Amino acid sequence: MYAGSTETRSPPITVPMLRQFKQEGRRISALTAYDASFARLADDADVDVILVGDSLGMVVHGKRSTLAVTVDDIVYHGRAVARGSRRALRIADMPYASYPDPRTAFTHAARLIAEGECAMVKLEGAGPVIESIRYLVEREVPVCAHLGLTPQSVLRLGGYKVQGRGEAAASALRDAARAAQDAGAELLVLECVPSAVAAAVRSDLEIPVIGIGAGAQCDGQILVCYDVIGISAGRRPRFVKNFLSGRDAVIDAFRQYVAEVRAGEFPAAEHEYAQ
Ligand code: KIV
Repeated sequence: MYAGSTETRSPPITVPMLRQFKQEGRRISALTAYDASFARLADDADVDVILVGDSLGMVVHGKRSTLAVTVDDIVYHGRAVARGSRRALRIADMPYASYPDPRTAFTHAARLIAEGECAMVKLEGAGPVIESIRYLVEREVPVCAHLGLTPQSVLRLGGYKVQGRGEAAASALRDAARAAQDAGAELLVLECVPSAVAAAVRSDLEIPVIGIGAGAQCDGQILVCYDVIGISAGRRPRFVKNFLSGRDAVIDAFRQYVAEVRAGEFPAAEHEYAQ
């Protein structure tokens, strides 16, 4: 159990601050969290963004994919995370099949904001998803888009594979990222794409690009909190680094992660994918 309260070092992160960080060249650090204790540690380590990710289906519930996660699950974990965090901006993942059309997306997003106590929702994919992004933004729901490897597409993709390789795929990815920004997304998560492609997307956009397996030239980085401390089961993806190695406490691992992201030291070349 965590004990007592900690003083806030700096003001809470707001949605407009994300763009400001990009303009100032200040790299954004983000982690997932699923409960109050990890959220408190991330907040105390000065993490800017906490994602209540649907990765909880895998790392908390032990499933083989994120597909079984429900809106109720994200609301439940979002509430717990909200009790532990004060400064970080909280983002809620919209689970698989919870945004088949704009109106349904709005119904679920409103729950994630109102009941799950998050300030932004994240949707995977482009194509028809762009209309849902626009619909949400027009109704005061801040949106984070998620492109590249979208884990909710695992059945179609046939596994968790690097995306955006080759000219046609890279150009489609850049178009999708621009479409998400034009629809009003305030943030973009780019997962498992070659670093050069991520760098191009980043320079195309005014909104910050947060990478996971997308190289060091993104405006920020995100990792699953369990990966940062080396307790996730199964094969470790190339982009993961265990920051607990050589340290005694989880908070020190989180602080080291934030420091390396801000300094542009993480990810290193060994964590990146080539074209
Ligand atoms: O659910 C998740 O953890 C994610 C990643 C981007 C970290 O979407």
